This record gives sequence, structure tokens and C-alpha cells, in this order.
Amino acid sequence: MPKKTTVQDYIRTIVDFPHEGILFRDVTTLFSDPRGFRMAIDQMLHPYAGECIDKVVGLEARGFILGGAIAHQLSVGFVPIRKKGKLPGTTISQEYKLEYGEAIVEIHDDAIQPGEKILVVDDLLATGGTASAGIKLIERLGGDIISCAFIVDLPDLGGRKILESMGVDVHILCEFEGE
Ligand code: PRP
Ligand code: MG
Repeated sequence: MPKKTTVQDYIRTIVDFPHEGILFRDVTTLFSDPRGFRMAIDQMLHPYAGECIDKVVGLEARGFILGGAIAHQLSVGFVPIRKKGKLPGTTISQEYKLEYGEAIVEIHDDAIQPGEKILVVDDLLATGGTASAGIKLIERLGGDIISCAFIVDLPDLGGRKILESMGVDVHILCEFEGE
């Protein structure tokens, strides 16, 4: 097996999942490797060393794994954004578009205080629908988004441009082109 030296080397590609014609970028092989996972967390954190961040917000589901580790490293709290109906307290909701149809994400309405500096974390940026919905929820609560950090960008799907057009800083470790 060739030696793995970059975060991208640890990501497995599954052909035809969840539908025919899709190349699924599977980060579980990155998460399960001690060097791979540590490298990913270190590189995601790197731009924020010395920055003032009050909370990390993770996007369900893989954003929870990364966001928990990053919040611990920064010694700040972690806030989940979840798919509809999963959070027990009072929430606000945001709709977003999927390939087919729509979905809704939610955040507890007391999870962020106005002016708090927020780092948003997820594993992968594709169309940007999930992250934009998360950004809108955070901004509706008055949060100040310092940056959004991802492991993977699929640049052909345009998510990065959408987030940047919303005025948000974006930090991504690697790209898979030609999706
Ligand atoms: C995947 C991925 C991102 C999102 C990116 O999550 O983990 O969260 O899609 O796609 P987008 O930029 O087009 O919105 P998915 O919705 O499959 O759910 P999961 O993380 O809960 O498995
Ligand atoms: Mg996801």
C-alpha cells in the first residue's frame, strides 16, 4: 500500500453510493486512522490558533465528530445543528434544497448569544445547501461567523462560491474535482 502523507490519502471513495453514478467520499477511513484523524483536526484548527472563538457549531452528522474534537482543542463549547425533530428544546428551523426535494435543519434558540464568535464545522462541502442553512440559523440568533471549516470540497458543485458570496470565510483541506 502506498504511504499516506496527506489528509486526502486517507479518504476512501465508494463507487455508486448512495445512487448509481455517485462517487461517495468516505471520511470514516480518515476518522478511524490515528494519524489521519489527528492530521485532519490539526489542519482544520491551524488558521484559528490565537483567534478569539466562543463556540464551535457542528453540522449533523459528521460535523459532530470533527466539531467535538475541535471545540475540545479550543477549550470552547460545542453546539449541534440537527436535522428536523431531533433537538429536545425550543428550536428555530431553516429549509434548504437537496438534489431531490427539501430538508430542514434546526438549532436550539438559546444555543448562541448575540455577538458570539462562531466557527462552523462539517466534513464536506458540495452544493453548500447544508452549510448555508446552518449559517442562516446562526446569523438569525445573532452569531458572528468567523469561519467555516471542512475537510473536503467538491468545487464543481459550487458550494464554496455560495458561502463566499454570503461573506463567510471558508477553510477546506482538500478537493475532489470532476464530480
Ligand atoms: C453530507 C455532508 C454534508 C452535506 C454536503 O451530509 O456530510 O453535511 O452532505 O452537501 P451540500 O453542500 O450539498 O449540502 P448528508 O446530508 O449526507 O447527511 P449526514 O452528514 O447526516 O450523513
Ligand atoms: Mg453531513
